[in-house]
Amino acid sequence: MNPLAAGRIAGVGRALGSRVVTNRDLELLLDTSDEWISSRTGIRERRFVGEGEDCVSLAVDASRRALSHAGVEGGDVDLVVCATSTAPEAVPSVASQVGEAIGACGVGAMDLGAACAGFAYGAAVAASMLRSGLATTILLVGVDELTSIVDLEDRATSILFGDGAGAVVLEQGDGSSGFVDHVLGADGRFAPLLRAGHPGSPQKLRQNGREVFRFATKIIPDLVEKLLVRNGISLDQVQYLIPHQANARIIQAAVRRLGMPEERVVINVDRYGNTSAASIPISYPDIYDEMEPGRYIITVGFGGGLTWAANLYRI
Ligand code: ACO
Repeated sequence: MNPLAAGRIAGVGRALGSRVVTNRDLELLLDTSDEWISSRTGIRERRFVGEGEDCVSLAVDASRRALSHAGVEGGDVDLVVCATSTAPEAVPSVASQVGEAIGACGVGAMDLGAACAGFAYGAAVAASMLRSGLATTILLVGVDELTSIVDLEDRATSILFGDGAGAVVLEQGDGSSGFVDHVLGADGRFAPLLRAGHPGSPQKLRQNGREVFRFATKIIPDLVEKLLVRNGISLDQVQYLIPHQANARIIQAAVRRLGMPEERVVINVDRYGNTSAASIPISYPDIYDEMEPGRYIITVGFGGGLTWAANLYRI
């Protein structure tokens, strides 16, 4: 373990698609029911982009809120990292467009793709950049417009996803607060379990829900335990676990395996559905003011690839 933490979270912000779509709304479009969706997934409603909104506008809105929360100007940011799998165009990157919108021009900007694990991968990249001195103030965004890659007529997948963005401002800090450890992983042998084309492509998102479910309920406790053991900390010292919000039943099963009290586990999939790379940073505004210095937060992402990543953060 590196005792010096890197990447203090100085500000957080989120932006959701403006159209609230309830399970009842979906009943009118698909052969499904509120009862089926809420009992299998815990999802009650999700947000879809409205008129004039897309992946880039959500990322920009979340970023502006995070900067304002941190009291940081766009011009102070020296690296923009956007985790996303739904950039509207191959070029330019979402990060480059966010940089322009916030007034961070001429500094580093890049997109990072690791599906629903993208934000957790991004946190590892950002913390390493800060630790190495290559950057001092990083804007890290997780954003996905899932409605651009999901077949909205496929009841097996369209009920699960939503559109959103979350952003954090990460500063070097004095080493007392920030990320202290990460785990990253991917296994392309399992790529067929979850595939999706780019926005606009006829290849819409398809998944083997049962296999992904099984993988997810195992990977969350495995990654948490790995971080605890190799950093010599106990579950009691972890104030919050923020798992990727794919399905409330996945989270509940994982938490039971771990033996973690549910009140310390962030769950908001009921309101936003699965927002992929955005689901972890979307969660920060709900807990930011309650975070207790000296305790820890563990974030766990998992998704297509298959990919997985986890971060240990000292508050
Ligand atoms: N409404 C009503 N019935 C439905 C619906 C629906 N929306 N969708 C499927 N069904 C039916 C199926 O047709 C099937 O009917 P059958 O038994 O007559 O064949 C039945 O319900 C059961 O279908 P399953 O797919 O076996 O349902 P399951 O209990 O596995 O739940 C679900 C499906 C919710 C998708 C679950 O497998 C899951 O959450 N898996 C994890 C998926 C996930 O999290 N993916 C993303 C992670 S990575 C990322 O975020 C990109």
